[in-house]
Amino acid sequence: MYQILMPGRTIVGENAISMAKEQISQLGNHALIISGKIVEKSGIVKKLTDSLEEAGVSYTVFTDIKGEPDDLMVAAAKKVYDTEGCDMVIGIGGGSPQDSAKAVSAASGYAPIALIPTTAGSGSEATKFYCVTESATDTKKLITDEKVIPRLAVIDPTLSVTAPKSITAATGMDALTHAVEAYTSRKATPYTDIFAISAIKRVFTYLPAAYENGEDLEARTQMALAAYEAGVCINNASVTLVHGMSRPIGALFHVPHGISNAMLISKCLAFAKDGCLSRFAAIGRALGVAGTDKECADAFFIYLEDLCKTIEIPTLEAYGINKEAFFEKMDKMADDALASGSPGNTIKEVTKEDILQIYKKLWEA
Ligand SMILES: [Fe+2]
Repeated sequence: MYQILMPGRTIVGENAISMAKEQISQLGNHALIISGKIVEKSGIVKKLTDSLEEAGVSYTVFTDIKGEPDDLMVAAAKKVYDTEGCDMVIGIGGGSPQDSAKAVSAASGYAPIALIPTTAGSGSEATKFYCVTESATDTKKLITDEKVIPRLAVIDPTLSVTAPKSITAATGMDALTHAVEAYTSRKATPYTDIFAISAIKRVFTYLPAAYENGEDLEARTQMALAAYEAGVCINNASVTLVHGMSRPIGALFHVPHGISNAMLISKCLAFAKDGCLSRFAAIGRALGVAGTDKECADAFFIYLEDLCKTIEIPTLEAYGINKEAFFEKMDKMADDALASGSPGNTIKEVTKEDILQIYKKLWEA
């Protein structure tokens, strides 16, 4: 038995943002629009506010989300929500503003949420999850709450064409990680399997093109769909070891989420491989490989390494992380990874020692 949870409504397509105004107008009277400075500068927030004005929806814009949200940013946004008399939240941007919108909604008695991704990655627009870093302890907390699944998700690929290469790579790898983790999760379902395989194929086919030429609207469209599909996957089948180990790297060393996933993905999946060889083989076959389970699974890992090279995923060392500092924090990181619960969804049993070994392997050539 399984159930599938998805956003109340999803609008997909070029300029979906202008089509969404009527749906948004039904969510409340005064929206708190949560975003970041870069998204605002790119003119995307204005696209939304122009559209809301046409629909007669009043709004207040909050653009002080700087990177992945912590409790202080959320509190600042919540304060504006209260003082401006808002009754709904719109998160527009990458995963961070969308997660912030969820946090503000939860702190406001679950105000209705509309989410508009401008990067193809987090899948936050399709999930019950959000991350907030506890500033006092530098611990990135994953919060699971079905009540923050948005009432409305707006997938408009034209919003992602200005994303720079580094963001395209990081977010695209986040989407791929979601899909592969969900497909190899203990919680995988026949429904999420369909979305996962579809998302994996789209990412392998279109991420290099979106990375190479951000204006390639077909590639951007395919990646936006992949991110959404992968979001539906994790919403219902969860993430596993990669995300469990990735969050502490993000919290302690401020590596962008998608990049730390990408640094970890091959090694974590290689650890899990013999726990579900047939699943990794199925991914290889979906990518066009023929042969035995082992051959197809191995081919998937080669494709994965190639993709990381093509989109220039750095190592921890190349990213500028201090090895000694990393090793010093490793014990806490392994504890935090396990405590998140995500490693427990891995199809193979994971111990703290396994996690420490994988962290160490990130430093091997
Ligand atoms: Fe993620």
